[in-house]
Amino acid sequence: MPRLFSYNQFASGSDVVKAYADKHSPVIICDKQAKRDKPFRVKVRIGRNVMHPNAPDHHYEYIQLWNLETLVSEVRLQRSSFGDQPVQIEAEFIFIPKVSLHLTALAYCNQHGLWMSEEVDVQVTD
Ligand SMILES: [Fe+2]
Repeated sequence: MPRLFSYNQFASGSDVVKAYADKHSPVIICDKQAKRDKPFRVKVRIGRNVMHPNAPDHHYEYIQLWNLETLVSEVRLQRSSFGDQPVQIEAEFIFIPKVSLHLTALAYCNQHGLWMSEEVDVQVTD
């Protein structure tokens, strides 16, 4: 089982440690309410405020969106599509919810492992 990192594990650290956690943390951006059986849009951004490197030897490889233990969708990132400078990569997921959601995003940095967002609850109504 891989270790799973999140911003809150580092929140009491120094500014350097917090910046390290910030640039690795996926953030879920979406409405907190959705309509059942209608397309629902969720954006995931890597980094709260700090940009992550996008170098050949240090970059993000994928972003996943989960609803509890169910994988909703996954985006594989082609590093060269995002330039060679630090960047806050964003991916958008559009799917059809049937029941209320408890979303979590996971993102994988090839040097610093698997990072988890905070959970976001979305109420789904008719
Ligand atoms: Fe990293």
